[in-house]
Amino acid sequence: MKPAVFVHSWVPEPILADLERRFEVDHVDVFKTGVLPPDEFARHAKGKQGLMVLTAPVPGELLKASAGTLKVVAAVAVGVDNIDVAAATAAGIQVTNTPGVLTDAVADMSIAMVLALGRRLVEADRYTRAGKFGGSSFPLFWGATVVGETLGIIGMGRIGQAVARRARGFGLKLVYHNRNRVDQAIEAELGATWLPLEGLLAAARYVLLLTPLSDQTRHLINAQRLKAMRKDAFLINVSRGPVVHEAALLDALKRGVIAGAALDVYEFEPDITPGLVELDNVVLTPHIASGTVETRHAMVRVAAENLIACLSGAPAPNPVNRV
Ligand code: DGY
Repeated sequence: MKPAVFVHSWVPEPILADLERRFEVDHVDVFKTGVLPPDEFARHAKGKQGLMVLTAPVPGELLKASAGTLKVVAAVAVGVDNIDVAAATAAGIQVTNTPGVLTDAVADMSIAMVLALGRRLVEADRYTRAGKFGGSSFPLFWGATVVGETLGIIGMGRIGQAVARRARGFGLKLVYHNRNRVDQAIEAELGATWLPLEGLLAAARYVLLLTPLSDQTRHLINAQRLKAMRKDAFLINVSRGPVVHEAALLDALKRGVIAGAALDVYEFEPDITPGLVELDNVVLTPHIASGTVETRHAMVRVAAENLIACLSGAPAPNPVNRV
């Protein structure tokens, strides 16, 4: 009998056909249904040997109840904070993710945010669309020159390093903060200097968040840390929403504690703290940092490869936990 899997994701036809050759597939196309409510998700997941999951929460109680049956949860994402990994490990369930394939897309988006904030791109677009461009352009939208400014990267993993390589091309100076310093050879190649967090916040004009969400990074950027930033600084979050205390950010932006922010992710996603959308010095996007055609296809392919490997007894190509 073929193993039964629940695929809660968009999947391109050839990959779905491949999965259907190997497994009894219960497919819910999230593009059509949206993320299923928890009880419906649990109903589909029940009795399955594998789950392939885009975005939906996979709570501890579901994993505990699936112990002995469920072998793998293959996330269609690099971040797995929607999955209770500790509970999966305790239940002997392998969790996998899709690192690597989205590095370039997220790095590009990070640089796009730097430029959009510095050059007030979105504000200027709104102004032009509103038919306000009438006279001389000379007084309009004076932005921040990017070359020579300091970019502070918090979280210097694969994506952080890819951003650093791009940033050098824009003439940005680089400082970074990471729990562990990266190899000295990589620091030298990137021209990046490690700083303690408070030192980075004081130095950088652009502060870019790329840390995974954990108990240590939840509300890493709070009122006190916003105060520690430069008054002319911009905060960019393309990691996970709860890394930033959103109410404190709104307050800091309104009071001019910092100059602006670009957010791709939200503390209470998909909700956005009321007040943020009214601010001109804020760029908001709907969690699309990894959203390129090639990357989305690659993420699904890698998740499917993980699912297939785990259910055929092979080691997971991209394990998140050790089981
Ligand atoms: C990831 O891969 O973690 C992205 O945020 C999902 O789009």
